[in-house]
Amino acid sequence: MKRAIYPGSFDPITFGHLDIIARSADLFDEVVVGVLDNSAKTALFSAQERVSMIDGLLSVYSNVSVRAFGGLLIDFAKQIDAHVVIRGLRAVTDFEYELQIAQTNRVEYPKLDTVFLTTSLNYSYLSSTIVREFASYGGDISHFVPEEIIPLIQEKYSR
Ligand code: PNS
Repeated sequence: MKRAIYPGSFDPITFGHLDIIARSADLFDEVVVGVLDNSAKTALFSAQERVSMIDGLLSVYSNVSVRAFGGLLIDFAKQIDAHVVIRGLRAVTDFEYELQIAQTNRVEYPKLDTVFLTTSLNYSYLSSTIVREFASYGGDISHFVPEEIIPLIQEKYSR
């Protein structure tokens, strides 16, 4: 039984993240999407909002679930008995940071390996930051996120 964690901020989740989830669901027996609940970082959506938003998009998968986690990723991995972390790599600029985190996590918890999936080319430009920036100016975000969550994002900027 290979259980993997796909951790991230997902503020909000994008088509790029969903592409990684779909491919991970084929590669592993079980995938747990881990939503970082970081009170030190101001997020657009609360962790609970992000979890329920993602949960609503996962009904097509029988082996993918979503949970919030706080603190260190290695502790969450131990808690749910996962030995693989999945991360998407969009470009070489992602690599240095991701390598450092993966190596640090492995020093601290040698049983934990990180698997990098290269983002599909059509989403290689995409990030949650870009989505927030576009949405904040009332831009069209339908190329970036599923239509179900567009009103939730727009609502955050309409206040
Ligand atoms: O979507 P993001 O913001 O790039 O995801 C980053 C995330 C959540 C994977 C990373 O920040 C993380 O694992 N945070 C939890 C705290 C932790 O374990 N940090 C490792 C420090 S070396």
